[in-house]
Order: sequence, then structure tokens, then C-alpha cells
Amino acid sequence: MPDPTPLAGYKSYKGLPQLAGLCTVEEAAKPGLSVEECVRRLKRFNYCFKRLHQILTARITAEPIYELKTGFAHHAYLCAEHVTALRTRIAEMREPPLGLEDVPHPALEAFFDEILAAPTTEELIEGAYRVAMDQLAHSIREYEDGTNPLTDAPSRRVLRFAALEVNDMANWGAYTMSCLVEPDSARERQLEEWGLYLSSLLDAAGILDGTRTASNEPVKRRYSAKPYEYDPVPRRDARFTDPWNQGVNAEAFLYDETKPPRAKALMMLYKRLREIDVPEMMASIITRTPGKPWGYYRDMSRQLWDEARHAMMGEAGFVALGVDWTKAKITFNWSYRLNTECTPMEAHGVLYFIEQGLMPRTGKRYEFEVGQQSGLPLIATIQDFDWADEVLHSQIGRQWYVPQFGSLKEALDYGDAAWSKILSNWATVKEKGLTNHENWWPAVYAMACAAANEKPDPAVLAFDETYAGKRADLQRVPAE
Ligand SMILES: [Fe+2]
Ligand SMILES: [Fe+2]
Repeated sequence: MPDPTPLAGYKSYKGLPQLAGLCTVEEAAKPGLSVEECVRRLKRFNYCFKRLHQILTARITAEPIYELKTGFAHHAYLCAEHVTALRTRIAEMREPPLGLEDVPHPALEAFFDEILAAPTTEELIEGAYRVAMDQLAHSIREYEDGTNPLTDAPSRRVLRFAALEVNDMANWGAYTMSCLVEPDSARERQLEEWGLYLSSLLDAAGILDGTRTASNEPVKRRYSAKPYEYDPVPRRDARFTDPWNQGVNAEAFLYDETKPPRAKALMMLYKRLREIDVPEMMASIITRTPGKPWGYYRDMSRQLWDEARHAMMGEAGFVALGVDWTKAKITFNWSYRLNTECTPMEAHGVLYFIEQGLMPRTGKRYEFEVGQQSGLPLIATIQDFDWADEVLHSQIGRQWYVPQFGSLKEALDYGDAAWSKILSNWATVKEKGLTNHENWWPAVYAMACAAANEKPDPAVLAFDETYAGKRADLQRVPAE
């Protein structure tokens, strides 16, 4: 029998990989999706990643569980990167006007609005991960199967990276749910029902990529019937036992020349872990600042994620030194006050003002040098990257915050003034009985010494300086 097509007998020179390794000629010799259809689907993916980015960011602040807070920070950033890549690709596909902010279908909008307004963490995870991410992974696979691998190679490349991370996120969500919800419980059934409701919204939208018949019927909203309101109040889980504590002045210790570098390294880990308040406040800036160019959200989300990583570096460092970090009282005073007493613009000003203060010789370079001197290589690694990240953040501030003012000086003065508005609440929170500002330092220091088989230094053990009487801004900015 002769070959039914001329393809079967086709060979490349010496059997070399065909078509630059993209695929075989046989695979490329089939028609695929049109440019118009590709653009339509890619725009839907753009919309989905954009909404997931928005949802995960908005839920960071009030999510109490530390592992979920940092997880949302990570995934919001990944979604922002995929939005950026998709927008670039769509713009290459002869598609003016781009319409990248358009809503593809009202039911798809309702689907994401519902997840954003989900009343509990479990409902949020069911919606964002077990339904949305899962469907997104499925739709990306369908696209990759339907498009021609040669003609549409640039889109397939973008989606290949997206699929990798969407699958990671979907797996994270599924595993997280198995940790939070008892299998076969009434709660699990409730969540399944919620998942089915969300899937019905997707069906009405012609599924996520719009490849099925959509419905024109108005959808029935549950939680998003009234518009979502961002919750700016930071919440923490039970391991954060004293969130108003301002009992240990970390900077006073760190910049005291008489204190040994090893003990300073421990104090720096506290400062790193305390940075979990930065994602909480940056989420409030991003969520409450609509209408910026996409690059703003991408860059701010990168910075937010870096700050979550800085907190986790503190966590990893404490664990490596044999210290139970829950004994160091990690406060939320800073994010709480910025989120509830400042406008997003003021909060951004404060952030920029502080990060400028971190750059001089006394700031991040100093912390790196202390890390090196401590004889603990992990601390040097942590501070080395922390420093690099902070240089990047300063650039992000210069790009997105400073140009809103006439000069750098005006931009800094605005941040300084906003920060000075918030006077120290050390006495107030004590009077209200919210905290006794316990000095947790001796216990944490003693724990690190015991783990290292070292005798505590009495002068270090005796450190007892609080933030009392300090202006709030001096609690964060290292003294020159
Ligand atoms: Fe940081
Ligand atoms: Fe930073």
C-alpha cells in the first residue's frame, strides 16, 4: 500500500530534528486555530490571570494564616507575570484596538466577583484554585492542542510557562484544601456545592475560554450581589500572640556598636519576619489604586512578593538557628495603622520614604556586613539578597511613585509628612490593655544560645529597650 500522504515518507537531513525542534513537519502540516480565535482566547486568559491577581492580592491583608498570606502573595505575583506576557503576545497579533481591559462575558465577570467576595478562606481557595486555576490549566491545554505549533509558536511558548505555574498553583490549592478541610465532612460537601455553583457560572460564560455556547440569561449572584469591599484590617493566626507588641527596639540593638554580630544576626531575623506587614500594606495600596497602567500592578506585585519572601527568610533563619519564632512577638502595628489611617498614596509615600532610608551605608549594606561578620553563612545569604531586592524596590518607587510629584524632594517630603502623621501609639495600646510590650528578647536569645551550645552574653541578655517615646517613623528607619 502506498503511503496515504506524502508526509509519512518525509525525512529531514540526516534525521536531524525538524522545524528547529518545535515539532515535526507532520504536526505542523495540519491547520490550526485562526489568529482571530487565538486572540479571542488569549484575551480570555489575560482576563482570568488579571482577576486572579486582583483576588489574591485583595485577600492577603485580612487572611490570618501566615502560610496562606505568603502563598497568595506568591501566586498574585505569578499571575501578574503571566498577564504581562499575554498582553505582550496579544499586541503582536495585529489586534488594534487591544481591548485588554474589556470584560469578555458578564457571567465570567460574575464568576470572579463571586470568588473575590467568598466569605471564608476555604471558599476562596475552592473558587480560585480548585475551580478557576483548574479550568485555566484545562483551557490552556486545549489551546495548545488546537493551535498550529509552527505558525503560533510564540503563543505556545508563553502558554507553556503559564501552564507550568498554573499547575503548581492548582496543586497548591488542592493540597491546601486537604490540610484545612476534613475529607468526607459536611464542610467538604458544602464547598463542593459552592464549586458546582461557580462551575454553573463558567458554563453560562461558554466556559472559561469561551469555546462553548454562552448564555444570555442574567446570572444569579450570591456573595457578590452587593459590591465587594476590601478589608484593610490585617489579621494574623494564633502564632502571632502579641501583635501590638513594641517591646524590643530592634534598630537600637542593631546599630549599637558594642553588641556582637551573632546576636545582631538574630535580631535581623526578627526584622525580616516582621516584614510580613509589608505585603499586608502593599496589598492595600494595589487594591485601592485603580486605573494605573498594567506595569504598575506588575511591579508593585513583584515588590509585594519580595517582601513576603523577606518574612519567610526570617522564618527559615529562625528555624535554622533552632529558635521558635513564635516567641519573638511579630507586630502588625505598622500595616494596621497605614491601612486604617492613611490614604493609599500616603502609604506609598511612607513605603518609599522608608526604603530610601534603607539605602545609605547604615542600611542594607550594613545588614549584609553584619551577616558576614556573624559567622553564620545563611544570614549573609539572606541579607545579600534582601539588599539586592531593596535596591530594586527603590527603582520601582522611582518609576511609579516619584513621578507623581514635581521633584524627588517633594516626593520624599510627602512620605515623611504622611509618616509623621502617625504618632507613636506605644502608650495607647498599653493603656487599652492590648499589650504589655513584653520584652521577648532574652527568651529568644537564650533559645538561640542553647541550640548553638553557647553561653549567653550577659550584656546581650540584659538588652531592654522598647519603642516607647519613639516617633512611629523611627521604628523603621535606621538612624544615620
Ligand atoms: Fe523587605
Ligand atoms: Fe522593600
